[in-house]
Amino acid sequence: MKVVRKVSELRSVVQQWRAASLNVALVPTMGALHAAHAALVTDARNRADRVVATIFVNPRQFGDDEDLAEYPRTEEADLRQLRAGGVDLVFAPPVDEMYPERFATSVILTGPAEGLCGAARPGHFDGVATVVAKLLLQCLPDVAVFGEKDYQQLLVIRRMAQDLDIPVQIAGVPTVREADGLACSSRNGYLNPSERASAPALYQSLRSAAQQISDGSDVLPAVSEARASILDGGFQAVEYIELRRADTLDNPSGRDGTPARLLAAAQLGTTRLIDNVGLTF
Ligand code: PAF
Repeated sequence: MKVVRKVSELRSVVQQWRAASLNVALVPTMGALHAAHAALVTDARNRADRVVATIFVNPRQFGDDEDLAEYPRTEEADLRQLRAGGVDLVFAPPVDEMYPERFATSVILTGPAEGLCGAARPGHFDGVATVVAKLLLQCLPDVAVFGEKDYQQLLVIRRMAQDLDIPVQIAGVPTVREADGLACSSRNGYLNPSERASAPALYQSLRSAAQQISDGSDVLPAVSEARASILDGGFQAVEYIELRRADTLDNPSGRDGTPARLLAAAQLGTTRLIDNVGLTF
């Protein structure tokens, strides 16, 4: 497994693969890798002849009051995991390779970037879209894979690639969970033991509300019950719980059997956790 830090090196390896008619999958990450990233790599390997993973903690997607400085940086362990997963090439650029002096361009989205996490984290999805647009254009993969835990991010990236005519398939990979249901996330490492014991309440409550809604219950009471059980479970605040169409994140227009997602964000101690579950509505 080769590790490169410059766009020119990434391009030259990928060009050689292309010349040999090999297709390429991209797995963008911010490092601090865990089981969900391993699942992204496995998915990518099943989709293409060669897999490129990127490790870049993207400063542009962190707000001023967010955890950029504390975000875990574990490159050695990350490279071990990527090597074991069969990644062919890692692109781990320094910040000035991605954002050189006088960098002045941003990708700004409306649509799926509005509301939900976009409401609480202004500029976050523009930062994600900007860095992912760059990574896609730097690598020009056939397919890029993203976890469904960050469901809004997945739709933002899909929209951005379509709107900018970037010729790539954006694939979603189902959320990987711990045995008790907690969605794997680099931020789970911030939880103390008592918060970690409370954390599965988010998924359990979402799952039970989604079940009630698919069984015909009204959305509002099911969501209020989920909100109460997340708080009872030990969370300090529920930022949102919302039912949206799975394909656009628009509000569903009524029960018409369309795939939907129940999405939530909640605060546990100083950690903000997100999760979502799929249902038919
Ligand atoms: O999901 C992440 O880890 C990041 O948001 C991504 C897609 C790698 C962009 O920095």
